[in-house]
Amino acid sequence: MSVTKTISFIGGGKIAEILVSNMTAKKVVDPRNILVSNPGKARLEDLGKRFGVNCAASNREAVEKGDYVFICVRSEVASSVAEELCDMDFSGKTVVSISAGIPMKLYQQNLKNVSVVRAMPNPPSKIGYGAIAITFDDRTDQKAREDIMEIFSSMGKCFVLPEEKINILTSITCPAPVFAFCSAIIQASVLLGIDHATSEDLVFHTIQGCLKEWEKNPGQMSKLLTETSTPGGISVQQLFSLDKGTFNGVVKQTYVDGWAKSKDFGDRILKSLEK
Ligand SMILES: NC(=O)c1ccc[n+]([C@@H]2O[C@H](COP(=O)([O-])OP(=O)(O)OC[C@H]3O[C@@H](n4cnc5c(N)ncnc54)[C@H](OP(=O)(O)O)[C@@H]3O)[C@@H](O)[C@H]2O)c1
Repeated sequence: MSVTKTISFIGGGKIAEILVSNMTAKKVVDPRNILVSNPGKARLEDLGKRFGVNCAASNREAVEKGDYVFICVRSEVASSVAEELCDMDFSGKTVVSISAGIPMKLYQQNLKNVSVVRAMPNPPSKIGYGAIAITFDDRTDQKAREDIMEIFSSMGKCFVLPEEKINILTSITCPAPVFAFCSAIIQASVLLGIDHATSEDLVFHTIQGCLKEWEKNPGQMSKLLTETSTPGGISVQQLFSLDKGTFNGVVKQTYVDGWAKSKDFGDRILKSLEK
């Protein structure tokens, strides 16, 4: 096991399970060093049975016993959790906030002597292929940074960045627009007369091949595009059609809108903290 500190979870829902299953399956943390607190006791027992983790009687017990306290409650519950824990001393402890849109300030302002990390794993993190945004505050020491990077690396690739950039990564790492693009190609294949099952297989292998080529040529996207665009050929005709449909503009607007939505959510929470 590479991380030997005690990991506590406040909230034992979907994202807590994804974290627990990855960190235990990849032997980053011994399940006996994991403690989960959750209002629904049946859920807690289920996590205990399936992963061998310990059940905490309360959020306060999870904080008392944990070195790294992962707060995995829904965003609307985060303020009440901060309030519940505001009289506890967090010296030597690090809070890792996973709740979408919740600024680190909520915990920095309310919890005594705490160091705070904010992380946003995207959905493919559950199968170990996530793109995970992580922000550390200045109080987080080197050991905690290394351990937390180790934990999230069990779920995919980590990108460390300042907190103000998290909303950008939240938008860019959304799988839905990517699936929508894949689905549109499948629909085009069906439109042209290939059956649904074959179309899906065909598109999967086309995209997989493109990703593998990109993996072998990092930082070379424009070279790959040039190499696959024979002058006067089919591909340049397709690219021309994308241009006519303002493809680049639509894609950029899609991600700018996702960023704005995520930022708006965080701004509203920040405003409520100022009251
Ligand atoms: N799911 C993902 O893939 C993912 C990825 C990145 C970020 N996130 C973020 O993570 C947060 C949680 O998402 P989720 O999908 O895990 O939601 P979820 O499945 O609803 O889990 C939330 C858990 O928190 C528990 N809870 C509620 N109030 C609590 C309290 N006062 N103290 C302790 N635990 C409490 C709930 O228990 P009861 O059900 O018993 O009330 C539930 O088990 C959200 O902000 C989400 O945006 C999720």
